[in-house]
Amino acid sequence: MADLSVEIAGVKFKNPIVLGSATPTMDAIRMKQGIDGGAGAAIAKSLFGEAGKFGRNFPRPRFKLADYREYPGYPDKLPHAFTLRSLEECSAFDYPTYMDDINRTKDLIKDDGVLIASLSGSSLEEWAEMCELVNKTNADFVELNNSCPFAADMGIKMGSGAVDMTYEAVKTCAGVLKKPFSVKITPQTNNPVEVAKQVEAAGANAVNMSARFSGIMLDIETASPTPFGAMGGYGGPYLIGYGLKLVSQAAKELKIPIISGLGVWDWRDIVAYTMCGATLVQSGVGIMLQGYKVTGKWAESMSAWMDGKGYKSLDDMRGIALPNIVKTADVPRKPDNIKAVIDTTKCTRCGVCLRSCFYDAITLTKVGAVINPDACDVCGMCVEVCPEYAPKLHKV
Ligand SMILES: Cc1cc2nc3c(=O)[nH]c(=O)nc-3n(C[C@H](O)[C@H](O)[C@H](O)COP(=O)(O)O)c2cc1C
Ligand code: SF4
Ligand code: SF4
Repeated sequence: MADLSVEIAGVKFKNPIVLGSATPTMDAIRMKQGIDGGAGAAIAKSLFGEAGKFGRNFPRPRFKLADYREYPGYPDKLPHAFTLRSLEECSAFDYPTYMDDINRTKDLIKDDGVLIASLSGSSLEEWAEMCELVNKTNADFVELNNSCPFAADMGIKMGSGAVDMTYEAVKTCAGVLKKPFSVKITPQTNNPVEVAKQVEAAGANAVNMSARFSGIMLDIETASPTPFGAMGGYGGPYLIGYGLKLVSQAAKELKIPIISGLGVWDWRDIVAYTMCGATLVQSGVGIMLQGYKVTGKWAESMSAWMDGKGYKSLDDMRGIALPNIVKTADVPRKPDNIKAVIDTTKCTRCGVCLRSCFYDAITLTKVGAVINPDACDVCGMCVEVCPEYAPKLHKV
C-alpha cells in the first residue's frame, strides 16, 4: 500500500487528512470519534480571546445549505457543488475549559492522531496569553487562526479583520510558543500569498490556506439574510477551484509546508491539493455532511489509486501539477486541428445544445443535430451541455 504519512516540524501524521476546525472538532469526544474514523489529525475548534467571547454563544439555527437536498437521487447520491452558510464563530469553551478539553482529547486519542489546538487572539497581549496557556497542554501542534471570516464584521481586530496584524501577531506567538505551529490565513484579502509569505518570515512551521469567505443568502420573501440576519461563513465544495489556485500559487513561493482544503468533498480532491503542493489536506463541510468515517474511506481509496498509478508516497505526487499550471498568456489560442462533431446515433434532438451555441453553428436535422464547421468556433459548450454526450471534439 502507498505510504500516506507526512511529517511537519518533527510531528508525524499517519495520513494527510485533517479534521478542520469546525463543529466536528468541538470537544474531546468528537475529536476521538474523528480520529477513530481514520483522520490523521484534528484541529480543535478555535478558542477566541476574551474580546471575542460573545462568539462562544452561536445563533440558532446557524446552518443553511443551498443546492444540496434538491440533487437528484439525494440522499443516496450527493451533489459535488453546493454552499453551506453558517455562523459558528469559535469554541463554546472559556480558557480553562478549552485547555482541559485539549488534554482530555490527547488522553483519548493518544498517538493515533495528531492533536492541533487552535487559537485566535485580537491583540498581541491576548495572543501571547493564549500561547502561554496552550504551552502547558498536551497538544502536539498549534494553529494560530487569523482567518475568521466574520471578524471584520464583528468590529474586533481578529481574523479577516486583522490581516494587517498578521506578521506582528505571528512573531509575538513565535516568541512564546514551545510547540510547532501553523497559521491559518484568510482568503478575504487582496493577496493571500503575500500574507502567507509574511507568516513564513515570522517563523511559522506551516501555513493553512483553507479558510472560508463571509457572505449572505437572501430570502426574497422576507428580504432578509437566512437563516440568521448577519454576514456568515460562506463556503462548500463549490469553492475548491479557489483553494487549488491559492495553494498552487503559495507552493511556488513558500518553503514551509502548506495545509489546504477549501471545498474537499472526496479523496480525489485530496490528490488534487497534494498535486498542487499541499502537505496536509483538511475538511470541514465534507465531514459535517458525510460523517467521521468518510476520512478512513478517503485514505483507503487514495492509497489504492496511488498503488494503481505507481506513486509510492505523497512525496511522489506533491507539486507535480505545478509545472502544468502555465500563465494565462501562454495558453495556446485558436488551435486549427480541433473540430466539434456530433454523433447523431446518440442525439435525441432535444435542442439543448442549440440554445447554448452562440455561433449559430448547430442545426436540428431529421437524423439529429449537425454542426456547420464553417460557423463553429470550437468553444466546446455543446460538449458540456449535451445530456447524451453526443458532441465531441476531435483532432483532425
Ligand atoms: C460550521 C463551521 C465552523 C467553523 N469553525 C471554525 C473555527 O472555529 N476555527 C477555524 O479555524 N475554522 C473554522 N471553520 C473553517 C473550517 O476549519 C475550514 O477551514 C473551512 O470550512 C473550509 O474547509 P471546507 O470547505 O472543507 O469546509 C469552520 C467552518 C464551518 C463550516
Ligand atoms: S463547439 Fe461551440 S461553436 Fe461549435 S457547435 Fe459547439 S457550441 Fe457551437
Ligand atoms: S444536446 Fe445533444 S442530444 Fe440534444 S440536440 Fe444537442 S447533440 Fe442532440
